[in-house]
Parts: sequence; structure tokens; C-alpha cells
Amino acid sequence: MDRNQSIITCKDVSTDHLKNLSFDIKRRQITTVVGPSGAGKSSLLFLLNRLEEPTSGEIYYLGKNIKDIAVTQLRCEIGMVFQSAYLFDGTAEENIQYGPKLRDELEECDVDRLLDLVELPQSFKSRHVTSLSGGEQQRVAIARTFANKPSVLLLDEATSALDIKTTEHIEEILIRLRDEKEVSILMVTHNLKQAERMGEQTLYIEEGSLIERGLTSEMFEHPQTNHFEKFLKE
Ligand SMILES: Nc1ncnc2c1ncn2[C@@H]1O[C@H](COP(=O)(O)OP(=O)(O)OP(=O)(O)O)[C@@H](O)[C@H]1O
Ligand SMILES: [Mg+2]
Repeated sequence: MDRNQSIITCKDVSTDHLKNLSFDIKRRQITTVVGPSGAGKSSLLFLLNRLEEPTSGEIYYLGKNIKDIAVTQLRCEIGMVFQSAYLFDGTAEENIQYGPKLRDELEECDVDRLLDLVELPQSFKSRHVTSLSGGEQQRVAIARTFANKPSVLLLDEATSALDIKTTEHIEEILIRLRDEKEVSILMVTHNLKQAERMGEQTLYIEEGSLIERGLTSEMFEHPQTNHFEKFLKE
């Protein structure tokens, strides 16, 4: 598949909290989303897998309007990981098998391989998730999302509750998933260093508007708007 192909395109998308957002995300690209608290970053992610609906504008996934894709299928293709892992009470294996089991595809779910993917030992299969550390839980959450074979991964402050070492480990895992699985990643973060380190493209959102968008390295080196420049200095 063409690596320059847009996997997600937003055209003039508005909601009660977002104003006319237009941008696209390429296959195998990491896009970081930054902006003040309440800017609308989480709202944007919710739109992409239809946890919210736009009041106007269109969103396309691989050229297809997401309104025309079954929500269950869309949420497999565009997976989401939140700040807290939202695992259910059970073992790591049960959590990872959740999506495939719902779809009657349990035999296709290779838990061993998924644990490998997030660098957790096989012995974790039978571990109860409540006995895992925050970083381990977050890795189980990523494995659970990957059990659905997503092409896009949405992360909402997925590492903000973790220490630096654990955060860097998860960042390495994400980069490997991008390289090996060719997923596109859209990650909201409050950590500007992380946004710069991880991003290829960055979106800066303020009060529901996309104020600045560009290649991450260029944006952080030479902000084009006073708003983003000021935000970087705060
Ligand atoms: N469930 C809700 N009901 C009503 N308003 C909401 C709801 N969730 C968010 N909002 C409002 O939508 C706007 C955008 O919120 P959003 O959560 O997307 O911001 P954010 O950029 O993710 O902020 P943060 O960095 O604090 O997570 C805010 O004004 C917020 O108050
Ligand atoms: Mg948020």
C-alpha cells in the first residue's frame, strides 16, 4: 500500500466544541496532538471512532465516509487507548481476548504473540490485571487493542500517569508497532517533549480550533503562529 496515502481525512469537521477542523493522517505516520486543557483534543479522538458525531463536516477512513462503516468494524480498525487502561476485572489473557471473543474469532487471537508485541512475558497471561503495575496494565491495554488488528491507534494521554522510564518503554513499543505493523498513530499528550520526540506531524488545537499543523520538527523549531509559540514557552 502507498505509504503516502491518507488513512484518515477530516474535512471541515465541527462539533459543539470543535470548529472546522481539516487535516489528514498518512499511513504509518505518528501525529501528536497538543493544546491547552479543554481545547478539544479528546473530543477530536472521540470523533474518529464515532464515540461522538460531528455536527457538520465529514471524516473519511481510507477514502470511505466513516458514517458508512459499521461502528464495530470502525472501532476495530481505529483502536483507542486511554490514560487509564480501563481493563475489566480478569486476567491479562481474558482482557486481550475480549474483542476477538465478541466477534467469535477467539481461535484467531494469538495471545502469546500479542504479549510479545508489548514485551510482556508469557507468564502474564494468567495474571489478574489488578495485580499489574500501571505500565504493565497500559501494555495489556495496547495488546487488547491490537487483538482487533487496527490500522490506526488513537492514544489519549496514554502515558501521562506513568514514570519516565515506563513512558519511554511504551514509546519504543509504539514506534515498533508503527514500523512492523504499519499502523498510524494519533496521540494526544500534555508532554511537549513527548510530542516533539514522537511526532512526525503535530496538530496544535486551542479553543476548538486547529491553530497550527505541520511537520513536528519544523513546528517546534519555527512555530508559525504566536499562539503555538506562546504555548511552547509556557
Ligand atoms: N461530556 C461532556 N459534556 C459536556 N462538555 C464536555 C464533555 N466533555 C468535554 N466537554 C467540553 O468540551 C471541551 C473540550 O473538551 P476536551 O475533553 O476535548 O478537551 P481536552 O483538550 O481533551 O482537555 P484536557 O487536556 O483537559 O484533556 C471542553 O470545553 C469541555 O468542557
Ligand atoms: Mg482530554
